[in-house]
Amino acid sequence: MPKKTIADVDVAGRKVLMRVDFNVPLDGGRITDDRRIRMAQPSIENVLERGGSLVLMSHLGRPGGKGPEPAFSLEPAAERLADLLNRPVAFARDTIGEDAHASVGALEPGGVVLVENLRFDKAEKKGGEDFAAALAAFGDVYCNNAFGTCHREHASMVAVPRRMRADGKPTVAGFLVDKEIRYLSDLIASPERPFLAILGGAKVSDKIVVIDKLLGICDAVLIGGAMAYTFALARGHAVGDSLVEPDFVDRARAMLERGSGKLLLPVDDHCATEIATDAEKQIAEGDIPDGYLGLDIGPRTQELFAERIKDAKTVVWNGPMGVFETPPFDAGTRAVAKAVAASGATSVVGGGDSAAAVQRMGLADAVSHVSTGGGASLKMLEGAKFASFELLDEL
Ligand code: 3PG
Repeated sequence: MPKKTIADVDVAGRKVLMRVDFNVPLDGGRITDDRRIRMAQPSIENVLERGGSLVLMSHLGRPGGKGPEPAFSLEPAAERLADLLNRPVAFARDTIGEDAHASVGALEPGGVVLVENLRFDKAEKKGGEDFAAALAAFGDVYCNNAFGTCHREHASMVAVPRRMRADGKPTVAGFLVDKEIRYLSDLIASPERPFLAILGGAKVSDKIVVIDKLLGICDAVLIGGAMAYTFALARGHAVGDSLVEPDFVDRARAMLERGSGKLLLPVDDHCATEIATDAEKQIAEGDIPDGYLGLDIGPRTQELFAERIKDAKTVVWNGPMGVFETPPFDAGTRAVAKAVAASGATSVVGGGDSAAAVQRMGLADAVSHVSTGGGASLKMLEGAKFASFELLDEL
C-alpha cells in the first residue's frame, strides 16, 4: 500500500518531528560530502513553506552510546543545513535533555532545530521506549525522511512513530524515502526488460543474498570487484594474491551452476603487485599470476559489460568494479558508469562507492536515481520489508 507523504498532512502551526539521515562523512569536523543533507532538503523546505516548524533528529557514525563524543557531534550538519536553507538552524547540545526541550519549546512556525546525535544514548539502538516517548513528545507529526537508516529498527525509526501513531498523530514518509522506495522496490517489481544488475565490491559474503535474489528476476547479472575472484576460484582459476573468501567458494560454485548463462564474470583482470598507482601491472586473461592481485576488471571485460549495458532497459548497480580510489584501477568503474549513463535505461545506483563514483564523474544526472542508502539500498534489492516504512500511515 502506498504511504502518505509529508505533502499529505497539514503542517501549518505544527511541529514536525523528522528523522533524517545526516550520517555524512567528516574530515576533522568538515563535511566532505553533504549529499544526504541536500537530498533531505525538499521535505524540510516543504514543511517550512507551509508554516510548520521542524525538530530534526539523526545519528552520525557509530559512537558508543555512553554520552557525548565531540567527534560525532551533529553540529557541522546543523551549520551546513543553515547554509543550504539560508535561514538559522538551532542546534540542541543534547537529544532529549534540557537544551533540546528549551530549543523545541522556543520553536516558532518556520523554525528549525536539530537535536544532538541520537546514538549518544544507547536507548536509540536498543529501541528504548522511554527514550522514544521523550522524542515523540517533541512533534505533532512524525516524518521518516531517513532512507539510509530505514533498515534499522532503532528507537527513532520504529518506537517513536509507533508511539506517535498510538497517540493519534500522523506518521508519514518524507519525499526522499518515498522516492527511494519507489525506485528500489517498485522498479524491481515490474522492470522493463532487458533488466540488468551490476554488482561489485569486495566480498561475495555481503552480496550473496542479493545475487541470489537478482538471478531470479534479472536477465543478466554482471559481477565485478574483488568478489569476482572468489567466483574465479570456484571456476578453478588461479587468483594470485587477490582478495578471496575461501569459505564462500562452494556457495559461489552453486550460484554459477544455478545462474549459468545469466551470471557474467570478468574475462580479464587488471592486476598489480600491490595497490599503488606506480606498482608493476599487467592484464591477465584467465589465471592471475603469483605475486599479483586483481584490482579491476580488464579492458575486454569493460567492452563486454558496456555492450550488455547498451541494450538494457533497466539497470541496478551496486558496488565498484575495482579499487576505484587508486587510479588506474578506477577504469572499470568509470567505463561501467559511462555505459550506464549512455544507455538511456532506467538506472538506479546504490551503495556508497558506486554512488560516489557516479557523483565524482559528474554523471549523477545521467542516471535515473542515485540512492542515499548503502546497507538500506542493498536490503531493498534483497527484497526486505522495513518496519520503519511499513508502520507509516497509508494513503
Ligand atoms: C548508513 O550510512 O548506511 C546509514 O546511515 C546507517 O548507518 P549504520 O550502518 O551505522 O546504521
